[in-house]
Amino acid sequence: MAFPKQVRLVEMSPRDGLQNEAGPVIATRIKTQLIERLADCGLIHIESASFVSPKWVPQMGDAAEVMAGIKRKAGVRYSVLTPNLRGFENALAAGVGEVAVFGAASESFSQKNINCSIAESLERFQPVMDAARKHNIPVRGYVSTVLGCPYEGDIAPEQVAKVAKNLADMGCYEISLGDTIGTGTPLKAKRMLEAVAKHVPVERLAAHFHDTYGQALANLYAVVEEGVAVIDASVAGLGGCPYANGASGNVATEDVLYMLNGLGISTGVDLNQLVATGEWISGQLNRHNGSKVGQALHP
Ligand code: HMG
Ligand code: MG
Repeated sequence: MAFPKQVRLVEMSPRDGLQNEAGPVIATRIKTQLIERLADCGLIHIESASFVSPKWVPQMGDAAEVMAGIKRKAGVRYSVLTPNLRGFENALAAGVGEVAVFGAASESFSQKNINCSIAESLERFQPVMDAARKHNIPVRGYVSTVLGCPYEGDIAPEQVAKVAKNLADMGCYEISLGDTIGTGTPLKAKRMLEAVAKHVPVERLAAHFHDTYGQALANLYAVVEEGVAVIDASVAGLGGCPYANGASGNVATEDVLYMLNGLGISTGVDLNQLVATGEWISGQLNRHNGSKVGQALHP
């Protein structure tokens, strides 16, 4: 047992949360307001947009406007997804200070999500890594489908470890392990983490668990107990992946925060303000609030 004293919450709602919203493209002002409110809650790392093809993900088509529109707060990292050099260059022009590349442990998911094999994706990331290094921009790396793939089912932990190690060796400062479709269970999560931690130190790993099967909090508890101290989550449980049918949002940030507060693990985030933000964005999107804690605490 090695619970961390402190956890960094990486807020996903402006990107993972909104990328999959059905219906008309959400107004840029709602996105920037959401990001500003999240920073006011005490969140210090907010994934704010995605410089991907707007044909693939229309909700992220205003990434540059979003980045230009945010009133930035000192000490807050506003990161974005960049799948290729073009995305990186656009992000750089928009004044972004941190980016992320995203690969997968499953070949089929890699093809559906970014239209290339795992090996090709790593080749595409290399110029992003080189350019980022030149500009002193930290790069985070994601591995998707670490606990199951919508097309291939079970994924071997060693396969996850291999892709995670590749990304870490290329220079990603942190690897976020994505249970994209939320099919994982706690022991499976622990075994996967153990396999990855043999190649990438646990201090460089983050947990990115979607809550499709209601297992995300249990899975998080399992990996936090093993020393994971960075958790990706999305206020009101917003989100889903456009290339994983039926996948629901990330675990709700309010629910994670409530659990961490109960474990005596500090985050610097204000629960009441976060609950109010979750209610606000659910109202703006005319969407059910997917956070249990949000529902319980909201008057
Ligand atoms: P492609 O079609 O293989 O590449 O797309 P391409 O180079 O042939 O480009 C096709 C078109 O996209 C061209 O436009 C390019 O100009 C344009 P056209 O000539 O047809 O008019 N294009 C771009 N436009 C804007 N920004 C760019 C860019 N690149 C090319 N950066 C590509 C490859 C990766 C771009 C595409 O497949 C794509 O954008 N995919 C989107 C994937 C995505 O955003 N998925 C969701 C995020 S990942 C996720 O949610 C998982 C995660 O949360 C972890 C987890 O839960 O597991 C991170
Ligand atoms: Mg995700």
